[in-house]
This record gives sequence, structure tokens and C-alpha cells, in this order.
Amino acid sequence: MAQIGYSKKVMEHFMNPKNVGVIENPDGYGKVGNPVCGDLMEICIKVKDDRIDDIKFRTFGCGSAIAVSSMVTEMAKGKTLDEAMLITRKDVADELDGLPPQKMHCSNLGADALHAAIKNYWVKIGKIKPEEAKVEEESHEGESCGT
Ligand code: FES
Repeated sequence: MAQIGYSKKVMEHFMNPKNVGVIENPDGYGKVGNPVCGDLMEICIKVKDDRIDDIKFRTFGCGSAIAVSSMVTEMAKGKTLDEAMLITRKDVADELDGLPPQKMHCSNLGADALHAAIKNYWVKIGKIKPEEAKVEEESHEGESCGT
């Protein structure tokens, strides 16, 4: 088929994703689930001088979600935590040159997991309260996500 609807960047990040894996003893950890499809994404960060020094992801999801994870980790690496908090779902999709309309929901997890990891760190250092670290849009009460 000539037209599959995925940008070159999506295909590149899907075929050769960056920053896959886990970090031992991360400073921040975020896990979010996509209520649309049930896919899961985890992001671990190491923080140094208020910047994201290292970042890794594991995604149990579709190809678009893997491309999104790879891209968001690339976008966040080296940024200050405040800068990384400003990365939106749309920024990630735009940076990938878009996703097909029916796969736009797959771009949600990246920014959400990143923000969850940063908030987890902020709770640890006492910058915010645990209740402020809740993942807003993606909360899906009652599901345990294996925790
Ligand atoms: Fe679940 Fe793409 S189908 S994140």
C-alpha cells in the first residue's frame, strides 16, 4: 500500500526508538494508561541540577505510542523540569509531523507519563503534595495497572 498515513518521523522512531529501558533507582517514575485502548507507558528520570539528566521509557502499546514515547524522551532530555512540564501532547504529535486522526489518542501517553515522572520527583523532594501529583486526564479509577 502506498499510503499508510504515518509520517517518516513516526516510522523512524517506531523502527528505532530512543531511550528504551529502565533506570535503576530513578529520581522520578511515572506510569499512565490510555483509557481508549488500555495501553501503558512508563517513564523513569534522573535529575541533576533541576534538569532531566537521563530518561528512559517502556511502552506496552502500539507503534504510534512507541514513536511518541521515543520522541517525548528526546524532547525532554536536558531540559529543566519546568520546561519539560510545558511539553504538551500536541507538541509531541507536532514534532512527529502528526499522527493519523484515528491514532491521535496514542499521543496522549507521552506527555502524561513525562509529567507524572516529574511530579513523582517533586513529591519526593517535597515541592508538591502527593495529591497534586495525580495524573489528571488519564486517571481510571479502579484499575490497578499491576501496582
Ligand atoms: Fe493504544 Fe495507540 S492504540 S496507544
